[in-house]
Amino acid sequence: MTQLLHLFDRRVCCIKDEKEDGMWEETFKSHTDSKPNGPSAISLDFSLPGVEHVYGIPEHADTLRLKTTDNGDPYRLYNLDVFQYELYNPMALYGAVPVMLAHSAQRTTGIFWLNAAETWVDISSNTAGKTVFGKMLDYVQGSSETPQTDVRWISESGIIDVFLMLGPTAKDVFAQYASLTGTQSFPPLTAVGYHQCRWNYNDQEDVKAVDAGFDEHDIPYDFIWLDIEHTDGKRYFTWDPHKFASPKEMLQGIMDKKRKMVAIVDPHIKVDNNYKIHNEIRSRGYYIKNKDGGDYEGWCWPGSAGYPDFTREDMRAWWASMFAYDQYEGTMENLYTWNDMNEPSVFNGPEVTMHKDAMHGAWEHRDLHNIYGFYVQMATAEGLVQRSGGVERPFVLTRAFFAGSQRYGAVWTGDNAAEWDHLKISIPMCLSLGLVGISFCGADVGGFFKSPSAELLVRWYQTGAYQPFFRAHAHLDTPRREPWLFGPENTALIREAVRQRYTLLPYWYQQFYHAHRTGEPIMRPLWVEYPQDPATFALDDEFLIGRDLLVHPVTEEGSRGVTAYLPGKDEVWFDVHTFQKHNGAQNLYIPVTMSSIPVFQRGGSIIPRKLRVRRSSSCMEHDPYTLFVALNPQRTAEGELYEDDGHTFNYEKKEFLHRRLSFVNNALSSVNLAPDATFTTQSWIERIVLLGARKPSRVSMKTADGPENQLEFDYDSSTSVLTLRKPGMNAGADWTVNFE
Ligand code: NOJ
Repeated sequence: MTQLLHLFDRRVCCIKDEKEDGMWEETFKSHTDSKPNGPSAISLDFSLPGVEHVYGIPEHADTLRLKTTDNGDPYRLYNLDVFQYELYNPMALYGAVPVMLAHSAQRTTGIFWLNAAETWVDISSNTAGKTVFGKMLDYVQGSSETPQTDVRWISESGIIDVFLMLGPTAKDVFAQYASLTGTQSFPPLTAVGYHQCRWNYNDQEDVKAVDAGFDEHDIPYDFIWLDIEHTDGKRYFTWDPHKFASPKEMLQGIMDKKRKMVAIVDPHIKVDNNYKIHNEIRSRGYYIKNKDGGDYEGWCWPGSAGYPDFTREDMRAWWASMFAYDQYEGTMENLYTWNDMNEPSVFNGPEVTMHKDAMHGAWEHRDLHNIYGFYVQMATAEGLVQRSGGVERPFVLTRAFFAGSQRYGAVWTGDNAAEWDHLKISIPMCLSLGLVGISFCGADVGGFFKSPSAELLVRWYQTGAYQPFFRAHAHLDTPRREPWLFGPENTALIREAVRQRYTLLPYWYQQFYHAHRTGEPIMRPLWVEYPQDPATFALDDEFLIGRDLLVHPVTEEGSRGVTAYLPGKDEVWFDVHTFQKHNGAQNLYIPVTMSSIPVFQRGGSIIPRKLRVRRSSSCMEHDPYTLFVALNPQRTAEGELYEDDGHTFNYEKKEFLHRRLSFVNNALSSVNLAPDATFTTQSWIERIVLLGARKPSRVSMKTADGPENQLEFDYDSSTSVLTLRKPGMNAGADWTVNFE
C-alpha cells in the first residue's frame, strides 16, 4: 500500500495514514471537494546561507521585505476575489507569482517555483527579531553564526519544477527570469497616461459630461472606463440598449478628442439561451466541466454563469475572434479591454472561487487554478492584436495574474479602500510585482471602497502620478469623485499632479521600452540600484522610476514633512521642483505642503520631458522636448531618448528612434543608438536645462550637416541652473552643444 506524504497542512509534515479525514474528500463550509486523486501535495525546503532579506511572491498586501512566518500563517498564493482585504497580512489575494528574490550585500538570487496549484511559502530566519545591536553583540562575543533564511514551498498538487536564478546581481536575476517567462509588453503610449474610471459611468450623456469636465478643468486624460453596468444585463460584448444605445457615436466623440475608452469583459458568461456568446461556448463544448462532466455553473454578476476553459488553445482562439470589429458590435479601434473577476470569482463557490474538482479536460482545476486568469488576459490581448490585423499594440488590464502575465498588459491591486494605509501599501505591492517582471502595476487612485477625504484623494493622485498604471476608480455606492468635485484648490492640486505625469511621459515611455527589452522593473526598490547599502533593504515608502528618478510620496495624513533617504555616497540628487542639490547617503527631511510631491533626479542623468501639456498624450505627439541634464560631481551625465509611433508593432521592425544623450568634457551630444532604425520625428528640442552647472562664457551648437550656431542662455547663480532656450534641433538629429 502506498503511503502518501501529506504536507498540505503545514503543521502535518510526517507520514500519515491515507484514511485521515480530508485526504480523499474534504468539506469546507457547505462545499465538498471530492479529491478523486487523494492527497498529492509536494514540497521542498531551500536554505539560503548569507541571506537576510527576501522579496517577491506577490500578491500580498504586505511590506516589500517579506517577513518570517514562524509565528503565523505562511504566505499563501491562491488567486481569490477577496472582499475588503486586510493589510500587512500573508493572506492570498487576486494574483500569484511564485517567484522569490533573495538578497544580501554580496549577491541577489531568485527561486521560481513553477506550479499553478494553491501554494504556501514559509519563511524562517536565524537572525529574525535580532536588532543590529544584537547582531553586533553576537559578533563581538564570537557567537555569531552566518545569517541564513530558510524557505519552504508547498503546493497542493503538480510536480516540483524549480528554476534557481543565480544572479549574481538583481539585474541578472531579472534577465534570467525574463528568459523563462518573457518581459513586460510594450504598451501603447496612451496607456501610460491617466485613466478615469468608476463603477459606473451611467450612460452616454454621463461619459460626455465627464469627458467635457476634464477639458473644462484643463486636466489631461487618455482613457475613460466603463464597468459592468454598460452591458446588456452583464452579457459581455454587448451594450445596455437604453443607456449605451449608440456606442460608436460615443466612441467617435472620444476619438475626436484623441482619447480612448476601456470596457470591461469578464470571463463569467451568463447562462442564457438568447445570448450568442453563451450558446457558442456551450455548443463548442468550451465551458469548464464540473466533476460529473456537465458544464460547471456558478453564480456571478449575471446570475448563473458558465466559465470558459481558457486553458484550451482552441477556446482562446475563439475568444480572441470575438473582439473582431464584425463580432463585437459597437466596438471601435479606440476601445480596449478590462478583464476582471478572473481568479475566477464564483460568488457561491468555496472561498468565492471555483471548486477544485472542476475539470479542464483531464486536469483538475486544483492543478491550474492560479494560471486561469493569465490565460483570460492572454486570449483577450490576442483578440485586440488580431482585430487590427496584427498592427496595433493591445491594452488589457487584468485582476488575476500568474508568472508571465507581464506579457499581456497591466495589473492593478484590486479592491482597496479609501484609507491612508491603503495608499501606503500601494508602494510595496507594486514594487513586489515589479521585482517579478510585472512592471505595469497600479492601485485604484482614491481607494475603491469608502470615500476619500479631499486630502487623501490629492495625496493619492500625487502618488499614483508616479506609479506605472495611473487610474482612478471607485465603487458603485460611493459618491462621485471626479477631480473637480472637491473645490478649486484641490482641483488645482490634482491638475498639477496629473500634469506632472504628462510632462514625464517621454521618460515613462522609455522606461517601458527598457522593461520590454530587459525585464527590469520600472518602479524599483532602491536596493536594486544600491545593492550594498543596507539602509535601502527594507525601504518601502519611496522608490525609483528607472534608475534616475527617486520618489518619496506623501502618504501620511496631515503631513508637514517627510524624510527621504537619498542613496549613494558618491551621488547627488536634484529636487525636480526647486533644482536644489542634495548629497547622497543621507536622510533628508523635506518640509511639505499640500502641493508637494518629493521627487529627485539623480546627478549624472538626462531626462527628457514634454512641458506643453495638452488634453491627452496623443495631442502631445509632435510636441518638442525639454532635456533636464543633471550633472554629477564629475560633471558628466547620460540619458536616452526613445520615440516611435506610440501604438503599432512597427518598433519591432526598427521603426523607432533611440538616442544616447551624454554630457562629458563640457559638451552635450546626441548620438544614434540604433543606426539602422528608421523613424523620423517632428519633435524638436525646445529647451535644455542643466542642473548643477557653471556659468559658461559662450554656448554653441553644431548639427551634423549645419553650421555652428551660438545659443542664448540664462544662468541662475542661486540655483546653478543653466537654461538654453530654443536650441531648436530635431530630436532625431546628431548634434553637439559646447559650453565654453
Ligand atoms: C470588482 C473589481 O475589482 C472592481 O474594480 C469592479 O469595479 C467591480 N468588480 C465591478 O465590475
